[in-house]
Amino acid sequence: MIGHDLHKAKKLLDDGEIVAIPTETVYGLAANAYKEEAVVKIFKAKDRPFFDPLISHFSNWERVKESIPNLPGIAEELAKAFWPGSLTLILPKSDKIPDLVTAGLPSMGVRVPNHSVTLKLLDSLDYPLAAPSANPFGYVSPTTAQHVEQQLGDKIKYVLDGGACQVGVESTIISLTNPDKPRVLRYGGISQEDIEAVIGPVATDLNKSSNPESPGQLKKHYSPKKEFRLTPNLEASIAKVASETRNVAILRFTKSTHHKDHYYLSENGSLIEAAQNLFALLRKLDESSVDLILAERVPDKGLGRAINDRLERAANQ
Ligand code: TXA
Ligand code: MG
Repeated sequence: MIGHDLHKAKKLLDDGEIVAIPTETVYGLAANAYKEEAVVKIFKAKDRPFFDPLISHFSNWERVKESIPNLPGIAEELAKAFWPGSLTLILPKSDKIPDLVTAGLPSMGVRVPNHSVTLKLLDSLDYPLAAPSANPFGYVSPTTAQHVEQQLGDKIKYVLDGGACQVGVESTIISLTNPDKPRVLRYGGISQEDIEAVIGPVATDLNKSSNPESPGQLKKHYSPKKEFRLTPNLEASIAKVASETRNVAILRFTKSTHHKDHYYLSENGSLIEAAQNLFALLRKLDESSVDLILAERVPDKGLGRAINDRLERAANQ
């Protein structure tokens, strides 16, 4: 059931139930992060393997400090610069967090999301919310309440509606497990350029193997069910499949001339808009009568890196 009732969401969470919540990146599937019996329901509903750790969402930096002692100075710098916002920090694990949340790791993912509805909800709770994206494991993340309802509606009692997500791709993950050497584990809603402007150069450790340290970085992830090809030369690929009888959709970054069956991430070439549209467009094509999706990369800078990362993972099938 979809609705706007914050009290109902709070009541369910207090009772140890799972509730889908809006964030500025994608919708999350939330439970009391301090309560193992609640968190286990997230894994079951998503069919998520227990080795994949969850991000815990807090209402503000002060609450994070109360939960995790001895935070490195660089964590505060990043928190002050980007929270609430689309940045997840990998920090030392709080003793209050059960091992289930962190998949046994001595570290935990922490984020203060930038969405007024969820910040209000978090303010009213005396625990953080563990929440992965609210999609079946491995599928495209949801950016509307309706996306969540369509796929997980029968497994969750309530989807708190906060409208369409304004960022549209998941948070950027920075590991501070070695505070002297911050590492980007996942490209996302805050660009590496913006982060480096605050803390200087950061290493990238984007796991692209099929057996990564951070399973959100599985090589195949965010995948539509249709055949999806990311091609370095779209025109050549279009020509190659022209003689086939299959229904082909072309996914372009921006609009040059209009063609039937061509879809645009952003008609006027905005990476911000492209990120907002990406997952909804992948879903739409997946539900259409199309057999094959041919896509091109977007410019590989700023938010474009997060978009290209999702396109690449969608293509690995
Ligand atoms: O924008 C987002 O981050 C969204 C919204 C709901 O906040 N959440 C999200 O969660 O994308 P999820 O579970 O789909 O992806 C989080 C990734 C996981 O795949 C996991 O690998 C990584 O974060 N992660 C969590 N805790 C970690 C840890 N202690 N060390 C390394 N990676 C971790
Ligand atoms: Mg996810």
